Amino acid sequence: MSKTVKDLIRSIVDFPHEGIVFRDVTTLFADAEGFRMAIGQLLAPYKGERIDKVIGLEARGFILGGAVAHQLSTGFVPIRKKGKLPGAVISEAYQLEYGEAVMEIHDDALTPGERVLIVDDLLATGGTAAAAITLCQRLRAEVMGCAFVIDLPELGGRKVLEGLGMEVHTLCE
Ligand code: PRP
Ligand code: HPA
Repeated sequence: MSKTVKDLIRSIVDFPHEGIVFRDVTTLFADAEGFRMAIGQLLAPYKGERIDKVIGLEARGFILGGAVAHQLSTGFVPIRKKGKLPGAVISEAYQLEYGEAVMEIHDDALTPGERVLIVDDLLATGGTAAAAITLCQRLRAEVMGCAFVIDLPELGGRKVLEGLGMEVHTLCE
C-alpha cells in the first residue's frame, strides 16, 4: 500500500527543547509522490472557488503555499516574521508560549475584496494563523479558508480559528 501524508511526517524528540516532539515535514517535502499528494489534498476544498491570492506563513508555509498558488493559478503573498520584508508593512503581534512575536505583510500586497487562502504546515495554538487572518482583514481582503498539513488538536488552534469564523482544513492530526 502506498504511503499517506501522515506516514511521511517525521517526529523528532526533544526539538527545539527537551520534552517537545517536533513534527518535521521536510521528509514529506522530499518525497515526490508525498509532496504532490499533500498539495493536492490541501487545495482540494478550494477547487472551483474564486481564490485571488494564496498567503504563505514563514517558513514552511512558503513551500506549501507557493505550490498551492501555482496549482490554483493565483498569486502568492508571504507573511513574514518582523523585519524581513523590504517594503512598507503592517504588523500584528501574537502570543508565544513565552513572550510575543510579530508577523508582517507588505501594506500593498492585497487589494480590498480580494479572496485569499492562508496556508501553513502546522496548526498548534492558532496564534500565528490568527495574526495572519487579522493582517489580511486589515487590508480588507476576504479570508476564504486556512489550510494546514498538521493539526495538533490538544493545543486548540482549530477552535481559535473557527471562533474567528474561519473554515479550517487540515490533512492529519
Ligand atoms: C510553526 C509552524 C506554524 C506555527 C504554528 O512555525 O510552522 O507557523 O509554528 O504555531 P501556532 O499555531 O502555535 O502559532 P514557527 O513559529 O516554528 O516558525 P518557523 O516556520 O519560522 O520555524
Ligand atoms: N512542528 C513544526 N512547528 C511547530 C511544531 C511542530 O511540531 N509545534 C509547534 N510548532
